[in-house]
Amino acid sequence: MPVRKAVIPAAGLGTRFLPASKAVPKEMLPVVDQPGIQYVVEEIVRSGIEDVLIVTGRSKKAVEDHFDRNPEVEAALEAKGKHDEADTLRRISEMAHVHFVRQDEPRGLGHAVGMARWHVGDEPFAVLLPDDLTHPRATLLADMIKTHEETGGSVVGVKRFPGKEISLYGAIDPAGEPDDRGVVSVRDLVEKPAFSDAPSDMGIIGRYVLTPSVFDHIARLKPGAGGELQLTDALREMCRTEPFHAVVLDSGRFDTGNKLDWLRATVELALEHPELGRDFREVLREIAARERLTA
Ligand code: G1P
Repeated sequence: MPVRKAVIPAAGLGTRFLPASKAVPKEMLPVVDQPGIQYVVEEIVRSGIEDVLIVTGRSKKAVEDHFDRNPEVEAALEAKGKHDEADTLRRISEMAHVHFVRQDEPRGLGHAVGMARWHVGDEPFAVLLPDDLTHPRATLLADMIKTHEETGGSVVGVKRFPGKEISLYGAIDPAGEPDDRGVVSVRDLVEKPAFSDAPSDMGIIGRYVLTPSVFDHIARLKPGAGGELQLTDALREMCRTEPFHAVVLDSGRFDTGNKLDWLRATVELALEHPELGRDFREVLREIAARERLTA
């Protein structure tokens, strides 16, 4: 069965990005000139999926407004002859069929994904965490869907995190080295292991293609790391009974929930921006020259 639906859990409180995320949902913070969550929806659309379910919570109304039409602003732009800008706004609401469901309580990522059960039904689906951005040229999600089609099982996107950083992620225990396409079979998964216990340096980077059996495993979850219902714990059960693979992404991933990585994403994507890139490169050169003088 093709992967036709994607789920974005976006109910998190965003405490890593305070105070910016106090009144603005963290998913709406701009990366260059569009909110982070828009890059994630664009990534979904690029992979061929048109149906997106966003799991929101209280105080996330701006996320819903962003993917809705805004006829007043569109009319104001048209009246001023700014047709391209009006088209850009319309494109956001038309690029996918975006649906919303609210997570009633913040009980963890496993619980948030479980909220998608009635929308997804009995078919494979993708999950993308909105704090994790991949470079627009990365084909990770499409590669993961291909691996799912070849194996019939679930697939996670991973990156190597040499050093203690692996403790911030769900780590996989791979059955050997990745093949030349970066695909490796997964034997086990551990959520946020201590560095000394990590089964490998490969951590999940917020990209999943899952079979619908995940919902039964989520329904049976007990609180795990941090007292939350962890998606990784459900996947751990799945990899014992179904084919389970990881696809390794070498570069082009940003953790925009982290202030420093958000800055890096902003700079790297601004440098490639069709209108801003050239001028921004000059700005960066000036700053770098000044920093060298005062270093
Ligand atoms: C979540 C997942 C973790 C994954 C990470 C990727 O953790 O639980 O397995 O590696 O996202 O960003 P969080 O960062 O929400 O604590």
